[in-house]
Amino acid sequence: MRISPEEAIALLKSAENVALPTETVYGLAASLHYAKAIENIFALKGRPSSNPLIIHVASAALIHHYLADVPPDFQSLADAFWPGPLTLVLPIDPEKVPTSVRSGLPTAGFRVPDHPLTLDVLKSVGPIVMPSANLSGRPSSTNPDHVEKDFGSSFPVLDGGSCLKGLESTILYYQGERWVILRLGTISQDEFEALLGYRPAIIKKSSDEEPLCPGQLFRHYSPEAELILDPEGILDSPVIIGFLERNYPEGKKVIFLGSLQDPSGVAENLYGLLRQLDQVGISKAWIDMDFPRTGLWQTIAERLQRAAS
Ligand code: TXA
Ligand code: MG
Repeated sequence: MRISPEEAIALLKSAENVALPTETVYGLAASLHYAKAIENIFALKGRPSSNPLIIHVASAALIHHYLADVPPDFQSLADAFWPGPLTLVLPIDPEKVPTSVRSGLPTAGFRVPDHPLTLDVLKSVGPIVMPSANLSGRPSSTNPDHVEKDFGSSFPVLDGGSCLKGLESTILYYQGERWVILRLGTISQDEFEALLGYRPAIIKKSSDEEPLCPGQLFRHYSPEAELILDPEGILDSPVIIGFLERNYPEGKKVIFLGSLQDPSGVAENLYGLLRQLDQVGISKAWIDMDFPRTGLWQTIAERLQRAAS
């Protein structure tokens, strides 16, 4: 059910949940001030309580209140990338951030999203926690129809159109002496290097004992359809997901991710396309993984690998 910004604000202030648009993906929102609404997010999504939520704020200045410590380059990262698709995991004062939001960790993720409607809602409601607005394990929602598919047609959604980036924010964490990447997103390592003077390392997998980014331990982004990434698999798959520039064997149904010249367009389409497979009842598809592994392509490859696993 589509709602206005005023309705979204009123619902959030009455401890209800709504879906809000961001430039990355739609978020399933609760005001940071209502424990009941926060708990309900985990129930609605079927999300394990060990997977923490990102706190969204209208501006970087509002974050200091929650922090135990401010890591070096916090302000330069905020100035360069906010509002935008960056989440910073920061050490917090445990008195100020509810345990449920951070799954008991001594840190919390913060982000200033870049969407005019949601920035207005944040200014009125205050800090809002939002995971991606999808059932746990499924591809994220990049338009209001996706949200309604997962949570029902009467679930309140603030319609902000299709998400321009289409993939979740990059998550950075200050570890030891440097920032590291906990989750790849649409900001490249090169862009961080230009600002920080070094290339933040990508933390591939955190362990169960020390979950640096708990979400990375769970199944993610997966449609019902079986996805085949092995180049040989093209022969047995009736459906091919590929690129406009390529010629594929005849007799197969080809679904296009977009152009090899336009990784942003591919990122924007990705989750919609994965969702579409289930909509039209495709049970198996081969994906053309023959594309570069630099910049945004690296993130696209990572999401597809996780979606297929
Ligand atoms: O683009 C985005 O980040 C979207 C939009 C709605 O803002 N949100 C999003 O939230 O992707 P979610 O919950 O789907 O993914 C958040 C990820 C999870 O993998 C979670 O484990 C990690 O952030 N995370 C949250 N708080 C953390 C913390 N304190 N330490 C480490 N990882 C954290
Ligand atoms: Mg998610």
